Amino acid sequence: MAETEERADDTKGPINMWVADPNFKTDPRIIEAFDYAVTNGCTHYFPAPGFDGNILQKAIARYYLDDLAIHVDPLEEVCPTHGAQEALSLAIQAGTRPGDEIIVPEPTYSAFIAKLETFGVRPAFVPLAEEEHWRMDVDAVKSAMSEKTKMIYICNPNNPTGTVCSRGELDAVSELLKEHEHVSLLLDECYARILYDGSAHHTLLGDRSLLDQLYIVDSFSKTYAMTGWRLGYLVTGKKNADRVKLLSEEYNGGVSYAVQYAGAAALARCSESVRSMVAELDRRRLAMVDALAEVKDVVFETPAAGFEVFVDISAYAKDSVRLASELEKAAAVKTMPGVKYGPSGEGHLRLVFCAEGVPRVREGISRISGYLRGYR
Ligand SMILES: Cc1ncc(COP(=O)(O)O)c(C=O)c1O
Repeated sequence: MAETEERADDTKGPINMWVADPNFKTDPRIIEAFDYAVTNGCTHYFPAPGFDGNILQKAIARYYLDDLAIHVDPLEEVCPTHGAQEALSLAIQAGTRPGDEIIVPEPTYSAFIAKLETFGVRPAFVPLAEEEHWRMDVDAVKSAMSEKTKMIYICNPNNPTGTVCSRGELDAVSELLKEHEHVSLLLDECYARILYDGSAHHTLLGDRSLLDQLYIVDSFSKTYAMTGWRLGYLVTGKKNADRVKLLSEEYNGGVSYAVQYAGAAALARCSESVRSMVAELDRRRLAMVDALAEVKDVVFETPAAGFEVFVDISAYAKDSVRLASELEKAAAVKTMPGVKYGPSGEGHLRLVFCAEGVPRVREGISRISGYLRGYR
C-alpha cells in the first residue's frame, strides 16, 4: 500500500471529509530528485550546468505519447505552472477579457467558480443532469452560448460528482468548438489518472485541429500526492502558450526548477506508487459508498473517478452550508457544502475519501448518519 501520513486507525477526533488532499506521502524518489537538484546547484534563476532546463516539459510530452499516444510539442505547447490553480487562472486571462462569459456545466470545481468574479468574467451555468448520472447536455451548452461566450470550462473527471465524460459527450463538444472558432475549451483533467471500476478517461487533446482552442490543465497534486509542491501545467497551441508563458513570467518568473525536476521524476519513475495509491483510494471509496448505502434517504452516484462522493441530502436539509456547519460542530465531521460547486449543488454535501483511512471513513459516515437521524 502507498504510505500514508497518518497510519493510526484511531476513530476519535475530528474527521476530514472536506479537503481533497490525499494523506499519502510523496514518493521518496520525487523527494530524492528534488534534493539532488538543490544540492547540485539548482538554487538560482537558471538550472545548474548539466541540468536540462526543459526536463519537465519533455517528461510531460513523453507521458502523453507513451500513455495516450498523443503528440504534443514539449517546448512550444507545454507550460509548467504553480499548481493547476495557476494554470486555470492563466487560461482565463489568456482566453477571455473582463465582461466575457464562460459556460460552466455544473456542479463543478468550486475554486474555478470563485475565480470568475476575480477576473470579471461571468459564468453561464448549465446544470448537469443528476438523474442521468450527471450527464452533460451538450445541446444545453450550445443553447447557453451568446456573443459574449469566449470559453467553456469542463472538469473531466468531475470534481465533485466523480463522473467521467463519455467519448460521445466530448465529440459533441468538439463539434461545437468547430462551429464556434472564437470559443475555447478549458479542460481540467486533474483527476484523469484517479479512475475506478475500469472507467476510461477521454480527452480532446489528440485532435490537433482543435489545439488552438484548447487549454488542457493537469496537476501533480492529486496523482502524485504533491499538493504542497504546487506543481501543475497547461497544454495549448503555440500562440496561446506564448501568452500563458508571458503571463506566468510576469507573475512569478517561472516555476522553481528543483520542483520541475522532481515533477519529471514523478512522471518517469512513479507509476507504481500511483497505482498503489489508487488501489487504496478504491478501498476507501467502497467503504464510503457501502456505509452511505445504509443511510436512509440520501442519494448518490458511486464515483467513477476522483476523491469524492457527492451526496444529495435534500431529504434532510435544503441549506448545505448550514448542514455542513452543524455537522462540523455537532458530529466533528468536516464536509463541503454542495452549493459551492454551483447552483445545482445545493441540497448536497461533498464528502472526500482521500484524506482518511477506511476506519475513519466508516466512522465519519456513521457520525453523519447519527446526526441526520436526529435532524428531522
Ligand atoms: C478539479 C480540480 N482542478 C484544479 C485543482 C487545483 O489543483 P492544484 O493543487 O494543482 O492547484 C483541484 C484541487 O482541488 C481540483 O480538484
